[in-house]
Amino acid sequence: MRNKFIAGNWKMQGSLATNPALLHSVAAGAATLPTVTMAVMTPFPYLPQVQALLAGSACAWGAQDVSEEAAGAFTGEVSVAMLQDMGCRYVIVGHSERRARHGESDARVGAKARAAIEGALIPIICLGETLAQREAGETLAVVHRQLDAVLEAVGVRRMPQAVLAYEPVWAIGTGRSATPAQVQEVHAALRSRVSNADWVVGAGLQILYGGSVKPSNALELMGLPDVDGALVGGASLVADDFLDIGRAAATA
Ligand code: PGA
Repeated sequence: MRNKFIAGNWKMQGSLATNPALLHSVAAGAATLPTVTMAVMTPFPYLPQVQALLAGSACAWGAQDVSEEAAGAFTGEVSVAMLQDMGCRYVIVGHSERRARHGESDARVGAKARAAIEGALIPIICLGETLAQREAGETLAVVHRQLDAVLEAVGVRRMPQAVLAYEPVWAIGTGRSATPAQVQEVHAALRSRVSNADWVVGAGLQILYGGSVKPSNALELMGLPDVDGALVGGASLVADDFLDIGRAAATA
């Protein structure tokens, strides 16, 4: 039985002034959901504040990206060790906004996932097709290619230390979630791809869905057989919405 995991992705939002109220509400709500792992992925500058406010709480935290390099002349980058210093347990890698806007290749995403695992951080590895790719019937080919790069870099035996997040690009921030049938099809395909390499690892792999998850669709999505939680953008900035999604995961 895989546990449910609800991860918030704040993206480039938040402020020192407004974060405490949101974090306090989320931590208090997370304490009432012992069967669900709750976490927030915040912008780098707020990690010291997040660490101070969430330490010892029922809500974990992490970052939205990390360098695959350990240290050195990499201006603007943040290392795994720095995230460890900030008490992070998780880091998102390969979000489609970074793949598209920052040219992150499948190989680079794989290298970031490997660096995270080697530094004892859990990477939340995002994959997903664009609308054009879906309309061309390429969805499974695209997510398999993205997954294969991760499996090659990480090795299937270390996949229990990672989480996958299927995020169709056309569903992110659009209000238009993928349908339950579309989500289940891709999640099952991803799991079976990993199971082909190692059955036990595939069966235990946590696969989140992301893309316009909100309280109104969470129960249906979280109840799908191969959905183990959600990566939540917009709704993670509203404590009640984020917690409602957590409650849906607890009930599903
Ligand atoms: P959304 O974002 O929930 O606002 O669609 C999800 C994500 O980008 O992780």
